[in-house]
Amino acid sequence: VSAELRALLVSRIRDVPDYPMPGVTFKDITPLLADPVAFNALVDALARLCTRHAATKVVGLEARGFILAAPAAARAHLGFVPVRKAGKLPGDTLGQSYQLEYGTAEIEIHADAFSPDDRVLVIDDVLATGGTAEASLDLIRRAGATVVGVAVLLELGFLGGRERLSAVLDGAPLEAL
Ligand code: PRP
Repeated sequence: VSAELRALLVSRIRDVPDYPMPGVTFKDITPLLADPVAFNALVDALARLCTRHAATKVVGLEARGFILAAPAAARAHLGFVPVRKAGKLPGDTLGQSYQLEYGTAEIEIHADAFSPDDRVLVIDDVLATGGTAEASLDLIRRAGATVVGVAVLLELGFLGGRERLSAVLDGAPLEAL
């Protein structure tokens, strides 16, 4: 993205100290979502990535990933597929658990979400440890599609998500706007 867009996006992300626990600074994207110019420019940039990587489907990761992935998919004239927290999808699902700092989480996808020639761009708001994104790549591949990239608004570089994901991206790019 251009330096101007990057500066606009950064200016609309708010640091909230000591949330959700003391010592953690939360990156709050709600000011960006509330700004029509910044939000529209972000959706445009994500839609361009869909086109550049010749994606045929967009996967969004619950919950904040949905807010970015669904409009980007629609703007790129592509279908949207949700990866949800366990127990929320009504059809036959594939599930994958992953490690959190304390305990584990599980995400699911509909088993019939893709056709074999689908090329999937994964979109989320934040890459932190990379655990959620890694688990989603596993789900997408088990559901029979090809991952052509992962795009996030914000990468928290000090948490090592890029290194963790590089082992499983299989050459697909990780784009942090
Ligand atoms: C956040 C964020 C990413 C994930 C990143 O989601 O939206 O999906 O964590 O963390 P990781 O790289 O360490 O896996 P969260 O689980 O807080 O859910 P939410 O979007 O529903 O608030």
